[in-house]
Amino acid sequence: MKSKQSGATGDKILGPTGKESVFDSVLDDPSLTDSEKTLLRLEQEGALLVLAGAESPAQTLLIIFYHMVANPIIFNKLRTELSTVRNADSWAELEKLPYLSAVIEEGNRLSFGVTARTARIASDPITYTPSSHVKSPTTGSQTYTIPPGTPISISTLSAHTAESVFPDPFTFDTERWLGEEGRQRRKFNMAFSKGGRKCIGIELARAELYLVVAALVQRFDMTLWRTDASDVAFQYDYQVATPKLDSEGVQVKVTRAGPGMER
Ligand code: HEM
Repeated sequence: MKSKQSGATGDKILGPTGKESVFDSVLDDPSLTDSEKTLLRLEQEGALLVLAGAESPAQTLLIIFYHMVANPIIFNKLRTELSTVRNADSWAELEKLPYLSAVIEEGNRLSFGVTARTARIASDPITYTPSSHVKSPTTGSQTYTIPPGTPISISTLSAHTAESVFPDPFTFDTERWLGEEGRQRRKFNMAFSKGGRKCIGIELARAELYLVVAALVQRFDMTLWRTDASDVAFQYDYQVATPKLDSEGVQVKVTRAGPGMER
């Protein structure tokens, strides 16, 4: 902020947008008022980006790799699918793979994204018709109008473990995302939230997940080391799902994959 005020530029390394960092973008934006350019705003923006951009994809990767390494059938099925792709460094190509997409959907479902209740207050009335999955005798297919100003919220824990949508919800079951039924089910995955305040980094996160999972599964064999299901079980809500407090994390022993798979 000081160097901007004094006009000193120094030898800064600029990113592809010609900015040094997201802070430059905020400070240079003429549509933002001075109150939006305070140190506090920059601190909060920076903390949010680091937490949201690093912790959330890491959490999904952790869940995916724990379950794949614990269940070699899933790992090998994915590796077989990946061997059919011409360019596994291309996100566009990877996204077309049904089994890889199923693995990522299931990882996002069981990572639970942001676990705290994400409250919303709509300024207009909302018409709500329960989906066909709602089995409560008191709701049925009745339509409700939620008055403006009503705080409403849902947690991903309750949404992602609803038995009527995700049978056997705590099992990492990639099959539930395959075929037409699996495609229909995708709208119930709320890991990135929904609506106007949903995750702003969805596309970056998805690119990271597809590219990292593909690269590691193709190149390395893995076995779990001093790790079991309790190292990924959701026990504490610290904004992200946190397992038992004395967990040492998901640890794996890694060796290079055989010659056929190495790239
Ligand atoms: C698997 C990865 C990710 C998951 C599951 C995830 C999940 C979420 C969720 C649920 C929200 C909404 C929170 C709320 O309703 O208050 C959110 C917001 C946000 N996410 Fe992500 N996120 C991921 C990756 C990323 C990445 C890679 C970035 C950026 C580098 C990012 C940046 C943000 C930001 C800035 C917001 C706040 C948006 C706003 O309030 O308008 N996220 N994320």
